[in-house]
Amino acid sequence: MNLTELNKIARGMVAPGKGILAADESTGTIKKRFDAIGVESTTDTRRDYRELLFRSNEAMSKYVSGVILYDETIRQKAKDGTSLVKLIEQAGSIPGIKVDKGSKPLPGCPGELITEGLDGLRERFIEYRQLGARFAKWRAVIDIGPGIPSYTCVSTNAEALGRYAALCQEQDIVPIVEPEVLMDGDHDMDRCYQVTEFVLKEVFQQLYYQKVALEGMVLKPNMVVPGKKSSKQASVEEVAERTIKLLKNCVPPAVPGIAFLSGGQSDEEATAHLDAMNRHGDLPWRLTFSYGRALQAAPQKAWSGKNENVAAAQRAFTHRALMNSLATLGQWKADLERKAA
Ligand code: 13P
Repeated sequence: MNLTELNKIARGMVAPGKGILAADESTGTIKKRFDAIGVESTTDTRRDYRELLFRSNEAMSKYVSGVILYDETIRQKAKDGTSLVKLIEQAGSIPGIKVDKGSKPLPGCPGELITEGLDGLRERFIEYRQLGARFAKWRAVIDIGPGIPSYTCVSTNAEALGRYAALCQEQDIVPIVEPEVLMDGDHDMDRCYQVTEFVLKEVFQQLYYQKVALEGMVLKPNMVVPGKKSSKQASVEEVAERTIKLLKNCVPPAVPGIAFLSGGQSDEEATAHLDAMNRHGDLPWRLTFSYGRALQAAPQKAWSGKNENVAAAQRAFTHRALMNSLATLGQWKADLERKAA
């Protein structure tokens, strides 16, 4: 393991003013997104859409530090024959790859999931590295509900994250460690805090047991938010305060950066929350975004599968990327959204 190199890449991924574009939707997930805009999901439409994002020059060169790709995309070529990986590199952004194989029911734990994909992972890392990946992502999914999460679910997922991260670093690839506590339920913010704390404590214990170098990784957590169906919603400042308190209690300062998932927050909420956290200042790690939906919902809608909409889609993507870039610096303002609209 070359820790100096890993640390350099990790710091690049969370560089001030920049964050990560999570464009690693599985074939099933991107189909859902395309269904919503009335676009058939084929190898070509997926390529056209992602090519449009990666050719958004301003966004990619100024605001996007890295892109998480899916297995299909890391092998695809743009219409003119240039590989999509090359487009990302030419913009000065770092290619990364989702390596987990999704989640399956966890035996003995009704309603809970375990992420799969460890078998053969070393060999897959070797190939992905040759294809240009310098970082990877593995997502564990933890749901909150009556009686869940169980310790079985939290500990088995944390162990898998540890095994993935250790293998990643062995192959000189920076692991994004993503334990996502879902915001789907009707739980309140306190419960989200408790569960996320439990999960992060367990994950960092496993990273320690499995000899993962914290300087060479990036954490991708959820924020502390009430469940979507909760009757008690929270202010931007409450989310920022609770999330920072939680992270200070769980994430060692050796970790270079934390890149949040958006997890179903609206575009503007995801930006406002990140901005409020960065306004606090005096944090031991960089805080940035690794958004999927909160960066892509707007460009997907603007594009709607039509060639003539490519420029409008690129503008929509660039706008969201700029808003989130400002949020990484604590310099976003709500009226910048209105002006753009
Ligand atoms: P969202 O921002 O849409 O939650 O996606 C981020 C991600 O990569 C989830 O694994």
